[in-house]
Parts: sequence; C-alpha cells; structure tokens
Amino acid sequence: MLIAANWKMHGDRAFLTAYFEGAAALCWPEAQTHLVFPPATLLERAAEAGTAVGMVAGAQAIHPARDGAHTGCLSAEQVAEAGARWALLGHSERRAQGETDLDVAAQLEAAARAGLRGLVCVGEGLAVREEGEAEAYVLGQLAAVLALPAPALDALGAIAYEPIWAIGTGRTATPELAQAMHRALRERLEAVGLGGLPLLYGGSVKPDNAKALLSQPDIDGVLVGGASLDITAFNAIARAANE
Ligand code: 13P
Repeated sequence: MLIAANWKMHGDRAFLTAYFEGAAALCWPEAQTHLVFPPATLLERAAEAGTAVGMVAGAQAIHPARDGAHTGCLSAEQVAEAGARWALLGHSERRAQGETDLDVAAQLEAAARAGLRGLVCVGEGLAVREEGEAEAYVLGQLAAVLALPAPALDALGAIAYEPIWAIGTGRTATPELAQAMHRALRERLEAVGLGGLPLLYGGSVKPDNAKALLSQPDIDGVLVGGASLDITAFNAIARAANE
C-alpha cells in the first residue's frame, strides 16, 4: 500500500513542524509506504523530518531539463538534492497550466536521470466522463509514458487515477467506478509487463471513504490532497487501508 499526501500550495515551516510532531505521536500501519509532497520551499525540511517518522518526501513537479533558462522551474536533479525521492508528474492542476502527455513523459525521463521515482497522475474531466470517453482518455494519457524506452520506464513508481471532477469537490468517485478504471489501467500495464505497479486513487479521499476505496482489488493506495493537511485525518486514511 502506498499512501501519499499532496500538500499542494499549503504549509509553512510552523505547519511542517507541527505536522511531523503529530505524525510521530501516531501509530502507522506497517507494510505501507507513506509519501509526502510538500511545496518546494519545504522539501528539504520535509525530507529530514520525514525520515524520523518513516515518511518519504517528493516534489510536486519537475521540469524535464537538467538546467537552463526556465524561470521558476526546478529540475529533477535540484529536487533530488533537496531530498526528494519521488516526483508527482502530470498532476491535473499542472496539466491545466499546459503540461501535455509528452511533457509528462519527458519528466519521467528526467526523474530516471536523477534517480527519482515518478508518480504519474491521470484523470478525466467531467465532460469527458459524460461523453463516455473516460477510459479511452485516461489510457491515452498513459500511452506516451508507456512508449518510453526501458531506462526511463524503470523510474515509473506508481500511477494515480485522479478524476478531475472529484478533486477538491467533495465528490468522490464511487469505489466501483474507481475500481473499473483501475482495472482498465491494470490490464494496460499488464500488457507491457508492469502489472505489479501500484495504482493509487485520488479525489476527495477522506477517512470515511478510504476503507471502501482501498478494499477494491485494483486500488493499491491513495493520493490525498485536502485531507492530508490534517495529520490525524491522513493517519486515519492510512489505518483504513489495513482494516
Ligand atoms: P483532494 O483530496 O483535495 O480532492 O485532492 C486530490 C488531489 O489532487 C491529490 O493530488
């Protein structure tokens, strides 16, 4: 099980200190990996503080290039030096700013170059779902990544299915709907020998719906936004995975 916290553009040093103090005081299920994706300004501190509580830090985004004239961006090497072991790639909030499937594939190549694991996010918007095109759309997002040659593809650490209509809306996908998409992703991955890759669900995951989602056969973890900002709620989600 992979249980991941995406803080998005939330948190400062005081928040981080309280968060990891809170984490240290709670009981965490074993046989789970816990990831935290803080804002870049907190990455180094999160990597340090996370070590003490068994949480691994990752970057919310990376640029494909190693360096260059890319104002405001961070390379895979830079976030790795700051302590990141993972990077979110192609989160819908980044795709909404213009990141394409090919950009996401290039980011995975960069992650591989810097020794990071990539957590590639996919997910359809409401219009696509209502047109009945969700599965084709999501598998299409994955295609550019799966087309990469072996060294880059080896850096693919997990896929997160995050339907855009369920992010931050309180409108979670039903466990059955999420399972159906995860099954389709699994089949596509199995076809290229990657059937064992963890598949996470994201989109309004809360302590009270985590158990139903995580008990689906093809849901191997969750990527949590809003509820991950409350360490007690995030811990309850992690514990729900073991129930
Ligand atoms: P919410 O859990 O706030 O819906 O966010 C989901 C998400 O985008 C995690 O990456």
